[in-house]
Amino acid sequence: NNLDTLYRQVIMDHYKNPRNKGILEDDSLTIHMNNPTCGDRIQLTMKVEDGIVADAKFDGEGCSISMSSASMMTQAIKGKTFEDAVKLSKIFSDMMQGKDYDDEIDLGDIEALQGVSKFPARIKCATLPWKAMEKGINES
Ligand code: FES
Ligand code: FES
Repeated sequence: NNLDTLYRQVIMDHYKNPRNKGILEDDSLTIHMNNPTCGDRIQLTMKVEDGIVADAKFDGEGCSISMSSASMMTQAIKGKTFEDAVKLSKIFSDMMQGKDYDDEIDLGDIEALQGVSKFPARIKCATLPWKAMEKGINES
């Protein structure tokens, strides 16, 4: 249907024109994570100021789902408190499990990936960048 088509366009746009691609220098938090099922990997760097994700960038190699998800994720968490970033991750996880999710906060483009919940093998692709983000916050 039209919504699926729109979502597919949003995903392809993030894949072809990734937002926040690269590596932050200085004292940024750096997290490496890979998807053991395929070997794809992501490097996430986050600049943290007073419990806020002031900036975030990702680098790596992976399928269209993982790379577009990383692009959307960095876009969504920039400027957010740790608490809100973790809340977004929980919402994304609910979305991936096909559960009802809290849409009271601005989800930006991440809803475009909700269809992934129907493809269990790809859920790990979509959640890879979110897991990296949570790991970084937990370790900081
Ligand atoms: Fe095929 Fe992730 S896109 S396993
Ligand atoms: Fe490896 Fe999607 S196939 S992250």
